[in-house]
Amino acid sequence: MRKLSFLLLALGALAIQSASYADGPAKNLAKPRASKAQKNTNFRPGELWYDTDGNVINAHGGGILLVGKTYYWYGEKRAQHQEEGVNVYSSKDLYNWKYEGVALTPSSDPAHDIAMGCLMERPKVIYNKKTGKYVMWFHLELKGQGYKAARAGVAVADKPTGPFKYVSSFRPNGNMSRDMGLYVDDDGTAYHIYSSKENYDLRLARLNDDYLTPTIQDSMLFSKHREAPALFKKDGKYYLITSGCTGWAPNQASLHVASSPFGPWQLVGDPMTGPNAKLTFDGQSTYVLPVPGKKDAFIFMADRWNPKDLKDSRHLWLPVQFKEGQPTIAWIPEWNLGFFNQQTIK
Ligand code: GAL
Repeated sequence: MRKLSFLLLALGALAIQSASYADGPAKNLAKPRASKAQKNTNFRPGELWYDTDGNVINAHGGGILLVGKTYYWYGEKRAQHQEEGVNVYSSKDLYNWKYEGVALTPSSDPAHDIAMGCLMERPKVIYNKKTGKYVMWFHLELKGQGYKAARAGVAVADKPTGPFKYVSSFRPNGNMSRDMGLYVDDDGTAYHIYSSKENYDLRLARLNDDYLTPTIQDSMLFSKHREAPALFKKDGKYYLITSGCTGWAPNQASLHVASSPFGPWQLVGDPMTGPNAKLTFDGQSTYVLPVPGKKDAFIFMADRWNPKDLKDSRHLWLPVQFKEGQPTIAWIPEWNLGFFNQQTIK
C-alpha cells in the first residue's frame, strides 16, 4: 500500500511537471527543482541555477571564454536594480560553475568612468595571443546619466579570472555604442559588434591587433533598430541573432546570415520555433557558444530579465539546431550535451 501511494504521488508530480511545459516555457519558477548541493547534469532553462557554493549564478548579459579545458563565464553582477561589476565563474563541464569572484570591480572614486553606480553591461572577454592578455569589452554607462553616455569600455587582465584593470572607454570612431558582443575569427581577427545611433544602427568594427581599440574599419551592417547581438560561424557562414529594442521586455528575435562579418547581411527570419517563440521564450539573446569537440554544436544563451529584481533574471541556454542548413532554436525544458550526438545535421 505504501509503495502504491508513493507511486501515485510520483506519477502525480510528473504530470504536474510536464503540464507546466505543455504550453511552452514556464515563467521564472519560484522553486528550484534541484537541491543546492546536487551536481548539475542538465541544463534547465529559466530555472534557478546554483553555483558550486550553492548561490544562484549572477552573471547576466554574459559570454563564455574557453581557456584550455576550462570555461569562464563572465556576466553582469546584478543587485536588485544596481549593477555591481562583472562576475566570473569557471567550469569544466558547462553544467557546474564555481564562483571565481568579481573580475572587474567598479571604482570607489566617484569621478572614475567606472565609479560604483555606473552600468557595465554585456561584458565579453577574449584572449589575445600576441599580447598574452585577456581583454574585456563591455557597454559602459556613466554613473547618474541613464543610458546617455553610450560608450564601450575596455579592461585587461593577465589571468582569465582577473582582476581586470580598466583601460579606457569611448564611442568607437565617434559612434554611440550600447548593446554589444565580440567575435574572434579563425585567423585571430577580432570584431566589436554594437548597437549605435540610439540603437537604430547595428555596426561592426575590426579591432586593432592588441584588441584594445577599434580600427577605422567600422561599418553600419543594417539599420533595423536591433540589439543584443550574438554572432557565430558555421561552415564559413556567419550568423547573427539579435533582439528588438523593448528594454527589459522580451520581443521577437531575428537571424541574419552573411559570408563576411562586414556583410552584406541577409535577413533569414525568426530562428525561434514552437510555443512562445515570438517572444524568444521570454528571453533576450546574449551569446552563442560553440561547444568544442562537438561538431556543429552551438548553445544559444539568453537572459530572461526580471526588472523588479535584476539579480533574479534567469539564464536560458538552448541548443541551436540546424534544419535544412538554417539555425533554429526550440524550447527544451531540460537537456544536456548528449543532445548534440542525437541530432542529425542536414
Ligand atoms: C535592453 C538591453 C539590456 C539593458 C536594458 C535596459 O534593451 O539589451 O542590456 O540595457 O535594455 O533597459
